[in-house]
Amino acid sequence: MPALPASVRIVEVGPRDGLQNEKAIIPTAVKIELIDRLSDCGLRTIEATSFVSPKWIPQLADAEEVFTGIRKREGVSYPVLVPNEQGYERARAVGATEIAVFTAASETFSRKNTNASIDESIERFVPVMQRAKADGVRVRGYISTVLGCPYQGEVPLSDVVRVSKKLHELGCAEISLGDTIGVGTPGKARAMLLAVAAEVPIDALAVHFHNTYGQALANILACLEEGVRVVDSAVSGAGGCPFAPGATGNVATEDVVSMLNGMGIETGIDLPQLIETGLWLAGHLGHRTTSSVVQASNG
Ligand code: HMG
Ligand code: MG
Repeated sequence: MPALPASVRIVEVGPRDGLQNEKAIIPTAVKIELIDRLSDCGLRTIEATSFVSPKWIPQLADAEEVFTGIRKREGVSYPVLVPNEQGYERARAVGATEIAVFTAASETFSRKNTNASIDESIERFVPVMQRAKADGVRVRGYISTVLGCPYQGEVPLSDVVRVSKKLHELGCAEISLGDTIGVGTPGKARAMLLAVAAEVPIDALAVHFHNTYGQALANILACLEEGVRVVDSAVSGAGGCPFAPGATGNVATEDVVSMLNGMGIETGIDLPQLIETGLWLAGHLGHRTTSSVVQASNG
């Protein structure tokens, strides 16, 4: 087992994964302020928005305005979600230099989320990957439902490995393994990671846990113990996918930072300032934060 790392890179997905699942439409100015506050907290990778179809995700229909409006802080990456060439063109037109493509390990979820089979969804972004390579754009690849599917239940590990290998061969610099509905437990998370890491270098892997059953921190720790160094999370525990019934928010960034601080693992993030940002966001969303750390610090 590799030693625990000295530092971990957190990929803050709240502005995208968090806000895509809100019932109310959040004002563009609030989205911009959220991202600027997060970069002030020390986050170095902030997934800013999504250039998907506004008919599918009306919550992020203002992607251009958000991306243009944020203060691009030196040393901070602002990747954006892109499903196809149309999304790539929109993202590039406003100057995005990092993108994330996405597919799934289960067929039914892929169809519900992108109106395409797994292979078709990959075919759609093959030309995106080619253009990104030519343009010097970094590409992250997401795989959803790696530990279970809201429609199909169990997802065979061989499917997760097959899709991971494919994304790696296509040139994804990083592959984020998504427990979309939060059904993973540490033993399963570890086994899934080890199966993927047998085929794809661990340095190219990230983990993305939704916290539906409160297992996300335990799953993250299991994956850190196996050598993962990149962890996705969302401030205030926001998040979820409108096409994944029953899924709740991502693990809260505040809780991940608190755990890592306690273990002496560096993130570069100012926790008190992050807690303040999470509370500010919860005020705008009109519902309570799911972060345990924030709940505890507010009595
Ligand atoms: P489709 O309807 O099959 O696409 O959607 P289409 O190519 O037939 O186009 C239909 C219409 O959409 C056309 O407009 C296109 O112009 C438009 P019309 O002619 O009807 O007026 N369109 C677009 N408009 C703007 N930007 C675009 C774009 N593409 C098409 N990029 C599509 C296929 C993939 C586009 C659609 O299914 C889609 O946008 N899906 C996105 C769903 C989504 O965003 N889900 C959440 C993100 S994934 C996630 O949350 C999981 C993750 O967090 C990891 C985890 O937790 O597991 C990453
Ligand atoms: Mg997600």
